[in-house]
Amino acid sequence: MNTVWRLTSRPHGPVRREDFSVSVEPLPTPGPGQVLLRNLYLIVPASMRLWMNAEDTYLPAQRLGAVMRGITVSVVEQSEDPAFPVGAYVNAMGGWQEYALAKTAHLQRITPHPDIGLASYRGVLGLQGMTAYCGLTDVCRPEPGQTLVVTAAAGSVGSLVCQIGKKLGLRVIGVAGGPAKCDWLVRACGADGAIDYKNDDVAARLDELCPDGVDMQFENVGGPVMDLIMARINRGARIALCGMVSGYQGGDNAGGHALMNLVNQRATLRGFIVSDYLHRAQEVCDRLTEWVLDGSLVYTEEFSDGLDSTPEAMNRLARGENRGTQFVRVSPV
Ligand SMILES: NC(=O)c1ccc[n+]([C@@H]2O[C@H](COP(=O)([O-])OP(=O)(O)OC[C@H]3O[C@@H](n4cnc5c(N)ncnc54)[C@H](OP(=O)(O)O)[C@@H]3O)[C@@H](O)[C@H]2O)c1
Repeated sequence: MNTVWRLTSRPHGPVRREDFSVSVEPLPTPGPGQVLLRNLYLIVPASMRLWMNAEDTYLPAQRLGAVMRGITVSVVEQSEDPAFPVGAYVNAMGGWQEYALAKTAHLQRITPHPDIGLASYRGVLGLQGMTAYCGLTDVCRPEPGQTLVVTAAAGSVGSLVCQIGKKLGLRVIGVAGGPAKCDWLVRACGADGAIDYKNDDVAARLDELCPDGVDMQFENVGGPVMDLIMARINRGARIALCGMVSGYQGGDNAGGHALMNLVNQRATLRGFIVSDYLHRAQEVCDRLTEWVLDGSLVYTEEFSDGLDSTPEAMNRLARGENRGTQFVRVSPV
């Protein structure tokens, strides 16, 4: 039997258990070109909260009554495609459920390295690593010696952006909530400076840490801090608009009052979605794997157990309590 979570009402603010129905249903049977997957890990990215809102984004709004969309690492349990034998590990959109039926054309096989955890193929070596690497290299177009400011810098994507920025010879300033995260950014991720937006005078700290202005902004949050950074960009600055997590729970936090400075500084603000870069997945994964294995790219992963823990795992991100990438262990490996 399969335990299945469906979104039945749209949350306002934090996600609640009551926003879902949970049912136990018979297992589906795969047809030709299909497999039955058992979901092992569900990644909990900040954007999952955005998908629950009524508005379409880069994906259609999650349909009420449908299985909640979710990005998983899964294992093949039954197969009707010889290229995906039983026991093969795959990246899938397995959803909030224990088992999922999938067309193999939509799956990507994983050959796990013995020294790398399976979940990491959806974190540092998957969605989050790809977002950080492609957003920084393609959208920010880094030039050694220039200054990069990253928001949600101690988070899953942000902490990778900071470290890749250092590898590319940038001066990196991270913005994060609280002294522990800021300390970790400098100590473990090699950031040249960190700004605690919850306690510091952000404007004064930006002036102090970026005396020559900001050449690149990797924006994950939106709101007033985004404005303060954007007000300090240099001529020809590049801004990667990766996400605006401060607005995902609703309300009017998105800000953006400094947009006029893009005009003044002939700057480029570009939104991007990681799926634009799927054609580079193998190249980026190989590069990141090299750095993970030689220990030069640090990443943190946190796990909670069972689909029951998913709403709270999402709320931890909104409260800034996560350290690195958050996963749910859906079923044992
Ligand atoms: N464009 C793409 O293709 C793509 C792909 C993946 C992710 N993303 C984006 O990348 C960003 C980071 O996502 P992630 O999954 O790596 O999550 P994450 O950064 O690990 O977690 C979210 C962090 O955002 C901060 N935050 C949450 N609510 C906030 C608020 N109201 N104001 C200010 N900061 C807040 C918290 O850090 P603090 O404690 O520091 O506040 C929290 O830890 C998101 O904007 C997400 O949408 C985009």
